[in-house]
Parts: sequence; structure tokens; C-alpha cells
Amino acid sequence: MKRFITLALLAVWMVLPGWAQHEHQPRPSPTEAPAIYWVLVALAVVAIVGFMLWTLYGKMRPGRMTTLSYHALGALVIIMTLFTLVLYVIPAQQAQQLPATARAWDWKPGEILQDPAGSGLSGEPYRGYLVYLANGCTYCHTLYLRPEDLKTGWAEGARPNEVSQMGDFVRYPFTMLGTQRDGPDLTVIGRKIPDMQYQIDHLVDPRRFKPKSVMPSYRYLSERDLRDLAAYLVSLGNDPQKLRAGVAPTPKPTEDPKIAKGRELYRSLGCVGCHSLDGSPNVGPSFKGLWEREVEVVLPDGTTTRVIADGAYIRESITQASAKVVKGFPNVMPSFAERVTESDLDALVEYIKSLR
Ligand code: HEC
Ligand code: HEC
Repeated sequence: MKRFITLALLAVWMVLPGWAQHEHQPRPSPTEAPAIYWVLVALAVVAIVGFMLWTLYGKMRPGRMTTLSYHALGALVIIMTLFTLVLYVIPAQQAQQLPATARAWDWKPGEILQDPAGSGLSGEPYRGYLVYLANGCTYCHTLYLRPEDLKTGWAEGARPNEVSQMGDFVRYPFTMLGTQRDGPDLTVIGRKIPDMQYQIDHLVDPRRFKPKSVMPSYRYLSERDLRDLAAYLVSLGNDPQKLRAGVAPTPKPTEDPKIAKGRELYRSLGCVGCHSLDGSPNVGPSFKGLWEREVEVVLPDGTTTRVIADGAYIRESITQASAKVVKGFPNVMPSFAERVTESDLDALVEYIKSLR
């Protein structure tokens, strides 16, 4: 009987965390849990472990004492207790003292995010996060920025002060940090590419933008799932308050159609994946303020020279990226010569010109 109860307790111990998360509703974060909660957790752990040890050792007769399996079981129970304390109770207790950062999760079910790029799309980041979990994005992507990721470019656009800390996660419905890193870290992907339409296009066909990408296509997702997932991605690294209030830049209604076309090409050709609009360097330099700036470039023979970023230079950069490689950047930009028409080039130049 006691052995049965021990087994039942063990099962509850293992199943409980999953059960607690199964309801897809935000629960109060540890920051909001009263201290008595942690006293109760500690008491519960001590009680469960005490009971198990008692059933194992309590009614032991002489001769049984030395049985190896008994000691192994006892050791297992103690190890599990230590794991519970070190991996769950102590970190959660520490998180209690941490303020939620500005980057913390802050969306509630039903809340809508408008596409910051102004495409007219909108989605629910909260639902998007559930789609993210359900489709195993976390097998390849992390939401956990380590100091070393800043140096390797594994989280482009992240700033040195944005290394993940516990306060980032206290409001998350549940955390999926990820470990594998087959794909880039997505902690600030929404700031790198604040464009829902691009996110959807990339999810549907990653190889359209990154020909060698190993990311699977998610074209099987419903339109709503795609929009919500894109909304979740765009929320990452952006201030939820600003996204909600719609402060993010939207295109001016009365603009040159060439500029509008250039903006569309910037997205649909995937320039957005490597070039930012806010001045922060990415895989390539930002387009902000590029027009007529003096640029230091490396020529194919290895010499450096200075050029003015005018229409001719920008056209050449797009059709023949390796002719002049911006100093300090890798020569990885693909050539778009086959993919752009004369009028596309015009539109892209006008668009970059408009980003002064
Ligand atoms: C098999 C591993 C794998 C899985 C699963 C996966 N990805 Fe990726 N992902 C990658 C790789 C590799 C890249 C880098 C190449 C690229 O951009 O396509 C990437 C890139 C990305 C990017 C950056 C795009 C850009 O243009 O910089 C986003 C956003 C992204 N993935 C989201 C997701 C989401 C959302 C899911 C789940 C629906 C997912 N990924 C599932 C491997 C994966
Ligand atoms: C895979 C990443 C990648 C993509 C996609 C990409 N670029 Fe680039 N781009 C770079 C890199 C890296 C550099 C800097 C090295 C160089 O000059 O080749 C660069 C340089 C440039 C420059 C020169 C910038 C300067 O500061 O002098 C222009 C202009 C440019 N790209 C335009 C574009 C346009 C337009 C597109 C889309 C049609 C595009 N790029 C797509 C990576 C990319």
C-alpha cells in the first residue's frame, strides 16, 4: 500500500508541472506570487520526500538494510529533490526579486497587434506564441540571448545590454528557451524585421529569401495561424506598449509610387533580412542615411577606397555586390542582377534616397 502511494506521489510529481501549464491562460508570474506560496512549495517537497524515504527505510528489517537497490532508490529520491530545488524552486524564488524588464512578455489573449510596417495585417501575439510552441520552432530557435551570441551575429540587431536575464521571462505564459540553435536566436527578431508580411512570406517559403535555409516551410498553417505567428515574431524585441499604440512607423499615404514600390521590393526581395532602416547594422549596413554618404569600400584586388553612395553605386551594389564591399562587412550579399528589372532598381534607389 505504502509503495503504491509512493509511486502515485512520484507520478504526481512528474506530471504536475505539465498539468499546471496545460491551461493556456497566463498565470500570475512568480513576481506576483505571495511569499507563503514558496513556503508551501518547500513544505510540499519536504513532505513528499520525507514520506518516500520513510516508506523506503522505515520498515526495514535487518538484512534488508544493505540491499543495493534500496540505497539506489533512496539516492534517486534525494537527487530528484535537489534537482527540484536547484532547477525550479530556487530560480523561481530569485525571479521573485527581479523586476519585469521592458522586454518582458506583456500580451493577453485576444489582444491585437497591427503590422508595424503598415501592411494592414494584424494578429494576436498570444495565439501566435501557442502556434510557435505547437510547431516546434523551439527545436531550432532559441529565445535566450547569451553574451557569446552578440559576437557571432547569431542574434543580429541585439544590443550588448540585451543579454537575456530572468526578468525577461517572468510574465511569459510559459518559457521555451530552446537549446539547439540550428536557426538564429529570435529574441529581437521583431526589431530586426518589424514586418508581418515578410515574416509570413518567410514562414511559407524560407528559401525564397535564404536559398540555403534548412528551415522547413510552414505553408500548411492556416492564414490566421500565420498572421498570429507573425505578430508574435514582430513583438519580439519591440516595446509592447508602442506596438499596441501603433507608434511604429507607417508609410505616408501621399507618397511617390516609386518609393512605395521600393519599399515593397525591399521586403519581397528580402533586403529586409540583412539591411535595417533604423541605423543599426545587421548582416549588412543600415539603409538609414546611406544616400550620398561617403562609404569606405574594399575593391576585388584588396585595396580600399572611398565612394559616394549615389544612384550608380547603389545600383552596382544590388546587381554586383562583390564589386565594392563595404569595409567591415562580409562579402555575403547575393547578386540580384537576375531578379530585378531596370524599374525595380530605380524604385530601390528612390526608396533608399527617401530614408535620409
Ligand atoms: C529545422 C530547424 C528550424 C525550424 C524547425 C524552424 N526554423 Fe526558423 N530558421 C532556421 C534557420 C536555419 C534559419 C536561418 C535561415 C533562414 O533565415 O531561413 C531560420 C530563420 C528564421 C527566422 C529569421 C528570418 C530572417 O529573415 O532573418 C525566423 C523569424 C524564423 N526562422 C522563425 C521560425 C518559426 C516561427 C518557426 C516555427 C514555425 C521556425 N522558424 C522553425 C531553422 C529552423
Ligand atoms: C544575405 C544578406 C543580404 C541581402 C539579402 C541583401 N544584402 Fe545588401 N549588403 C549585404 C552586405 C553584407 C553588405 C555589405 C558588404 C557589401 O558591400 O557587399 C551589403 C551592401 C549593400 C549596399 C551598399 C551599402 C553601403 O552602406 O554602402 C547596398 C546599397 C545594398 N546592400 C542593397 C541591397 C538591396 C537593395 C537588397 C535587396 C534587393 C540587398 N542589399 C539584399 C547583405 C545583404
